[in-house]
Amino acid sequence: MACPYASNDDGSIFSGNFTDEIQDGLNNLAITEGINYHQYLQLSKVLSAQKPLSKVEEGKGSVHDEHLFIVTHQAYELWFKQILYEVDSIRDILNNNIVDERMMLMIVTQLNRVNMIMKLLCDQFCILETMTPLDFLRFRSFLGSSSGFQSLQFRILENTLGLKDKHRVKYNQQYYKDVFNDEESIKLLDESARKPSLLELVESWLERTPGLSLNDFNFWNKYQAAVKQWLHDEFKAPAEKETNPNLKELKMAEYNKIQNAYTETLNEDNYRRATERGERRISHSAFQGAIMINLYRDEPRFHQPFQILTMLQDLDSHFTKWRYAHVMLVQRMIGSKLGTGGSSGYHYLRSTVSDRYKIFLDLFNVSTYMIPRPYIPQLTVSMKRTLSVMLNGQTPATPNTEDQLEKQAISSAV
Ligand code: HEM
Repeated sequence: MACPYASNDDGSIFSGNFTDEIQDGLNNLAITEGINYHQYLQLSKVLSAQKPLSKVEEGKGSVHDEHLFIVTHQAYELWFKQILYEVDSIRDILNNNIVDERMMLMIVTQLNRVNMIMKLLCDQFCILETMTPLDFLRFRSFLGSSSGFQSLQFRILENTLGLKDKHRVKYNQQYYKDVFNDEESIKLLDESARKPSLLELVESWLERTPGLSLNDFNFWNKYQAAVKQWLHDEFKAPAEKETNPNLKELKMAEYNKIQNAYTETLNEDNYRRATERGERRISHSAFQGAIMINLYRDEPRFHQPFQILTMLQDLDSHFTKWRYAHVMLVQRMIGSKLGTGGSSGYHYLRSTVSDRYKIFLDLFNVSTYMIPRPYIPQLTVSMKRTLSVMLNGQTPATPNTEDQLEKQAISSAV
């Protein structure tokens, strides 16, 4: 009788009357069971990819710090890869007309992961900062024209998040794509710019916020009335009551200024013009959705959307911090020398640390439009019920009359 563990002529270990599928599964199991740490992580490839180019003296090895320089960049690229993997997964979930709310937790988890990685990437620069400018100069000339500016993954990531060409600062009068000359890279860059970005998907998702439509809760009308009332009570009425003419003028001017800021957003035409000027990135109705989620974040159905909006702002903050940490490193290492990629170096990079590069700028602007709690329009009974829907599709015991709603408000306030 043949040994059941002996391999067959074709290298497979198990055999019998199995279907091809089962046989493949058993063979894979045997392979993975035999696999070791080194093989699984393909460490022979990863650990043989550090090839310093500098030469201290003919035949005497490379400049010590070049090894750190290579490892640091490789670690960044690996993390960029993971971030792209997570962001693509979030995009897949959002890229549907109806987003399954059970997947919200997945989005929160993955966004949180991306933020943790970005935080690490900001901190990681300090390791490279242990290299001195003089030591960097010992091998800088060996880098040729290679530069982080040619990081394909970084550009794909910017596009995938939603950075538009019109917001990029031109580098040496060059378009960022000009530095890529192989077909494969250009194809990948074009694809990343063409597919719906995370910003666009978040925008469509916000446009579908429950309660926005006119024949539903009609949030926007109610919100505009609430803003008017608040501006009246907080600014206009005290200004009108003021007896000192100088103070009255000052208070009226303040009221008019604040009112104008609100009018710009409340009025759809004004908002559109602000979008054309590049001051707004998302549609008017998506902006309404973001305001609504922020105001009613205590309602169960808005808990996770609120967390998502917060995390998207965190993502922008981390990216801005990354750009800032990088530019500080660059100034420390090369002062105002030109970059190896041909840009003005520090000055070019400093111009990228700005709102032009913020993807979710509108979410930061939502804070301008928050109004004090007592002015937030009360939810109707049916809206309260809609926003109480639990993720498994069941509705919790919700009050069904205005009277019960009021009683519940009083008891929860107690
Ligand atoms: C000694 C360390 C470093 C120096 C002196 C340096 C210098 C520069 C300079 C001067 C630029 C502008 C383009 C150019 O003219 O070359 C640049 C761009 C860039 N670098 Fe670095 N860099 C350093 C480390 C890093 C590290 C560790 C990363 C991580 C991946 C990185 C990623 C990038 C990226 C993505 C850009 C493009 C930024 C943009 O255009 O918005 N750099 N770097």
